[in-house]
Amino acid sequence: MSNTVVVGTQWGDEGKGKVVDLLTARADMVVRFQGGNNAGHTLVVEGKQFIFHIVPSGILYEDKKCLIGNGLVVDPEVLLEEIKSLKQAGIEVTPDRLSLSEKAQIIMPYHKAIDLAREVAKGRDKIGTTGRGIGPCYEDKAARTGVRAVDLTEPDTLEEKITVNLKEKNFYLTSFLGAEPLDAQPILDRYLEMAEILTPFITDVSVELAEGLKANKRILFEGAQGTHLDIDHGTYPFVTSSNPISGAACAGAGIGPGQLHHVMGIVKAYTTRVGAGPFVTELTDKTGDYIQERGAEFGATTGRRRRCGWLDLVVVGDSARINGLNSVAITKLDVLTGLEKLNICVGYEIEGKLVDHRPASLRKQALCIPVYKEMEGWQEDITRARNMDQLPDQARAYLKAIEEITAVPISIVSVGPGREETILVQDPF
Ligand code: GDP
Ligand code: IMO
Ligand code: MG
Repeated sequence: MSNTVVVGTQWGDEGKGKVVDLLTARADMVVRFQGGNNAGHTLVVEGKQFIFHIVPSGILYEDKKCLIGNGLVVDPEVLLEEIKSLKQAGIEVTPDRLSLSEKAQIIMPYHKAIDLAREVAKGRDKIGTTGRGIGPCYEDKAARTGVRAVDLTEPDTLEEKITVNLKEKNFYLTSFLGAEPLDAQPILDRYLEMAEILTPFITDVSVELAEGLKANKRILFEGAQGTHLDIDHGTYPFVTSSNPISGAACAGAGIGPGQLHHVMGIVKAYTTRVGAGPFVTELTDKTGDYIQERGAEFGATTGRRRRCGWLDLVVVGDSARINGLNSVAITKLDVLTGLEKLNICVGYEIEGKLVDHRPASLRKQALCIPVYKEMEGWQEDITRARNMDQLPDQARAYLKAIEEITAVPISIVSVGPGREETILVQDPF
């Protein structure tokens, strides 16, 4: 019995979707526990690409149960759109295959309006959010004024919440942000319409998981975002509004910590980041462009060009500690093919002092100078490698350095976007 949590160790887009899809073959239930449709998880199966924003990446396997936990903020428009496009691809998403926690928070049009208007108002200081209303929705959760999935099943409650909330939101939107106010009636009408379709999916996910555990089912927890986007542990304030770390799987799905048996961190073989914020190993030169182009580093949600840089093991080391990583999956190793030399950041120098973890202060982060270990690159195509022996010596040395410096064993190496383009080193199940 081995329930596994998959988390991002950098700033998101590490390839969590691909790894979750891969591991789903060995699991019975796949549950997301935080975030919302700021996530964009890409899978390539038999040459066909799927991008999921809210539905767990396990949905392509017919006999697996997918669950959206209470820790999420769910935009019903996006959820319905995703169910619809899966149907077009021949995958019928019925309530026996997908559950939505009755306690999940619902993203409302005013959350999106506030997110967008706030970013405009911030101007040059903007966070570079995905504009999906994620932050404002989590704010309402903490303020205890949020609309939850269960409210979709009670029209009176929904109407009251929308009416009361809009009074405050419209005041903020118009008087402070200089944006347009929103009308309550069309919002209520649309949400009631969507509620009708979604009601059969709404359940108590915690109870469902408990029943699964009793029946010896294996659960896979699918993290979104990454550890350095964590609201507590990330590069605050350039972070998202949830906890994308392993510890949050318990609170966001409704299970106890004793039920988590393996924490797998996903590590991209280099570093990327979308949106603003500190990035010590960022490359703004030709090498950065090479990685960006070869890795097709464009956001799966917003289409923005991702900033690229060398692998930062200070960042990954922080993640190993914060998540309690049992193993790491290294993804996109193939993207580095063709570079003569590779750098791995093994520490930061701040005003002459060497540090091995990222400081909290933005000012100090701006002073960090990366300390690099230089490694030899390789020129061979590695996308057809299916075991470690088929990798060039230099690629194996690169992986060994990651393993030694982070002191976390590698369980998976990914050498291409496809499900089969994978080296399974050690099975977490
Ligand atoms: P996630 O948000 O962590 O699930 O990652 P994304 O899906 O946003 O971004 C990862 C991108 O890299 C996707 O387009 C994947 O199809 C692709 N990808 C995943 N693993 C590999 C790999 O090993 N090699 C290459 N070349 N692409 C990969
Ligand atoms: P996946 O799950 C990469 C980033 C945004 C922005 C910051 C805050 O695909 O790895 P938000 O809309 O959450 O308030 O934006 O967080 N961000 C992501 N970056 N991958 C993601 O998800 C992200 N989700 C949010 O770009 O910098
Ligand atoms: Mg992504």
